Amino acid sequence: MTAGDDLPAPAGRGSALVTGANRGIGRAVAAELRGRGLDVVLTARRAEDARAAAEELGPGTRWAALDTTDADSVRRAAEAVGPVDILVCNAGVLLDARTDPLTVPLELAERTLQVNLLGTWRVIQEFVPPMVGRGRGHVVVISSGTTAEFGGQLFAGTPGYSLSKSALNGLTIMLAARTAGTGVRVNAVNPGRVRTRMMPGQEQLPEEAARFIAEVATLPHDGPTGQFFAEQR
Ligand SMILES: NC(=O)c1ccc[n+]([C@@H]2O[C@H](COP(=O)([O-])OP(=O)(O)OC[C@H]3O[C@@H](n4cnc5c(N)ncnc54)[C@H](OP(=O)(O)O)[C@@H]3O)[C@@H](O)[C@H]2O)c1
Repeated sequence: MTAGDDLPAPAGRGSALVTGANRGIGRAVAAELRGRGLDVVLTARRAEDARAAAEELGPGTRWAALDTTDADSVRRAAEAVGPVDILVCNAGVLLDARTDPLTVPLELAERTLQVNLLGTWRVIQEFVPPMVGRGRGHVVVISSGTTAEFGGQLFAGTPGYSLSKSALNGLTIMLAARTAGTGVRVNAVNPGRVRTRMMPGQEQLPEEAARFIAEVATLPHDGPTGQFFAEQR
């Protein structure tokens, strides 16, 4: 079974799917959106992780296995889940901390781009056309402060990561233009520095970042598109 259909979906305020929802920011965003009354689909690379996270949240959540780097996995998840109103592209990796663009092993940059850029793009290609077909939807791309928003200087201490997130910013702008007038919106969010497995030493808790991300995700249907929202931490 790809998706958990044993947990009833609540009637209510629309649906949201979160990638990488088994831990960290993704799990906190799923919980926050569920708390705001949405039907939430938690996805994770491994089915058992997605199921466990959904069961922890309780009624009103569903789950699906979704590895963003595996086209079959993404397609199966999209078929099992069906259309969603909000797509939170959260899954990501940081593999090249404390390196330098002049010497970083490009294999690390390649793996980072596979997950952060192409993985996100792959998920968008499965879930956004149905949004366009239905004339509504909101894609929230989790970006990073390493990108200096939509311009400026990239942080060189995580070169592959910074470039992958900068490319996601570009994808956000491109998709917002492509979907303009369709009822679909695409925005990027920098959650600030958050204490997760990726960034263990930080002060901000995932639950705090999740409130900010959920605020953006649940902006009204006639809200902004092609914007970069930054938590100032
Ligand atoms: N923490 C920060 O300070 C910070 C700041 C700015 C932006 N962000 C961004 O926030 C997002 C979440 O990061 P986090 O801090 O919560 O880190 P995290 O605790 O390391 O969580 C990363 C999540 O992404 C998942 N993931 C990785 N590769 C995947 C794949 N191929 N398919 C599906 N899921 C995959 C992980 O799943 P597994 O458990 O299976 O590995 C995990 O659920 C990332 O995009 C990150 O770049 C974080």
